[in-house]
Amino acid sequence: MLRRFAIIGHRAPSSGKINLNDLAGSSGRLDVLSRAVNTALFLSHGIRDDSQVILHLLGGPGPARRIFFEGKNVRGLHPDERAIAGQIGRALKEPVPAIGQKSELHSGFYHSGGTLEQTLAEWRKEGVSTFVLDAEGQDISEIKKIQRPLGFILSDDQPFSESDLDCIDEELRISLGKQWLQGHACITIIHHVLDQS
Ligand SMILES: C[S@@+](CC[C@H](N)C(=O)[O-])C[C@H]1O[C@@H](n2cnc3c(N)ncnc32)[C@H](O)[C@@H]1O
Repeated sequence: MLRRFAIIGHRAPSSGKINLNDLAGSSGRLDVLSRAVNTALFLSHGIRDDSQVILHLLGGPGPARRIFFEGKNVRGLHPDERAIAGQIGRALKEPVPAIGQKSELHSGFYHSGGTLEQTLAEWRKEGVSTFVLDAEGQDISEIKKIQRPLGFILSDDQPFSESDLDCIDEELRISLGKQWLQGHACITIIHHVLDQS
């Protein structure tokens, strides 16, 4: 079952230079986003071809940028956080593409303009069933029955912002338990659930 993960990086830089030695601080919690990419894509020995990740870099300067990793086509990506962040950093040196224009920088690695609003519009067009991961949401068991591509929205270390909430108002919220977990741990649980169906 194809699965997509949209992660919101509220402070993650959308352009310029990042500091690979300070991913958690001056790089706007790029460590959290890199761990999410790692967990979404990597198996012990290989890359999942049924998983895609979209990072939403909202921290500026300039317009928001979206970074796409498609497991089926990704080549030459290494699972460590710095390597993943380094790949993201290369995209940040390029101008932000127009919204609606998805530009490939490396095999399986793309960027585009836009925010969660565009991602949700694209998912709707592509027939993706969308869920917001939320500790206070409904039980997750229903998702196993769905026979369409699935999309999951997660925040970084911060709660969803007002503008995120405006976009996801209508989407179903699903919970992985009452305790708030780290985002990458949630991705592992989703893989586990879907791999059984
Ligand atoms: C580190 S948590 C964010 C915690 C943040 N302080 C908050 O209040 O939202 C990162 C993301 O993981 C997901 N998440 C964490 N725990 C979850 C749970 N128990 N069930 C479903 N999703 C969860 C949510 O999407 C959350 O935005």
